[in-house]
Amino acid sequence: MKILVTGGTGFIGSHTCVELLDAGFEVVIIDNLYNSKEDVVDKIETITGKKVTFYKADCCDEEALERIFNENSIDAAIHFAGYKAVGESVAKPIKYYENNLMSTLALCKVMGKHNCKRLVFSSSATVYGNPASVPIFEDFPLGPTTNPYGTTKLMIENILRDLLISDDTWSIALLRYFNPIGAHKSGLIGESPNDIPNNLMPYIVKVANKELPYLHVFGDDYDTPDGTGVRDYIHVVDLAKGHVNAVQKVLSSTGIDAYNLGTGNGYSVLDVVKTFARVNNIEVPYQIDPRRPGDIAQCYASTEKAFHELGWKAEKGLEEMCKDAWHFLETTKK
Ligand code: UFG
Repeated sequence: MKILVTGGTGFIGSHTCVELLDAGFEVVIIDNLYNSKEDVVDKIETITGKKVTFYKADCCDEEALERIFNENSIDAAIHFAGYKAVGESVAKPIKYYENNLMSTLALCKVMGKHNCKRLVFSSSATVYGNPASVPIFEDFPLGPTTNPYGTTKLMIENILRDLLISDDTWSIALLRYFNPIGAHKSGLIGESPNDIPNNLMPYIVKVANKELPYLHVFGDDYDTPDGTGVRDYIHVVDLAKGHVNAVQKVLSSTGIDAYNLGTGNGYSVLDVVKTFARVNNIEVPYQIDPRRPGDIAQCYASTEKAFHELGWKAEKGLEEMCKDAWHFLETTKK
């Protein structure tokens, strides 16, 4: 079976390609390298000992997609390609709506034309907005979202639901990620933002590596055990494995369904900082700062649906996530 992976050289995409190849799938990647590097393709091949077909192209480019579908017999697609920086999306909403929506529309159009109607979509827990309670179940109300990035994810979920209504031969899985961190055990692939990171783990890694002086902890007055924000951190390799199960599901059924991909455990910012410092035996200086606008106190998943319907659950704990994130940095320094 051949799977098209849009955004396959990115953080989650690359780990997913590794798991797909290990599970016996063939992989075709389309990526414009906006936020990644071409050598990731070699690294995926080194880790797995298998070949990948790579197209450097934009997923909004219908002609490029046409060519890929003409040159390959694609059985299903996983759609990761998209912009994902929350803050930037507030400053540049048009850029986010244009890219994230257009790429999805182009992909679905070309897939439909080639009668390839099996799709896994990279959504986010952000579609739940500020949930009334935790853990978050898939049937919780959606939105209102708190930024244009989140709105694109919710809009795309709605577009895909409409697509299914119009043609019930599609099979679509909406995967709502919680907070993916960590890296592949090999240290060859991981998360490497070019600028100052927005997310907690890449920021901690840069502080530990003395590229940044200290971590800003955004608020210690939330209604959580230590006052700092609580999130459901999930090892990126576990998350990647969830995609393999989702691909198997869309290949064997029709319909549309949403699944949370998280661990079901909530950890605070200080839990993460302290665990990272302990397991890697390194200092992570921090300072308590005001809350970050748009943040919520707690966000963690109910994982029952993914377990019962996809046969998947996360297996790696916070210590391994922290060790692997640091190992990736140390490997890239060599
Ligand atoms: N945090 C800090 N300092 C930092 C960065 C983050 O204290 O420098 C805190 C945040 O306030 C929050 C926690 O660490 O409490 C996690 O923040 P992240 O920015 O790492 O992640 P978010 O939960 O804010 O957002 C992530 C993804 C979004 C996605 C969302 C889904 O970045 O794309 O999860 O719930 F939409």
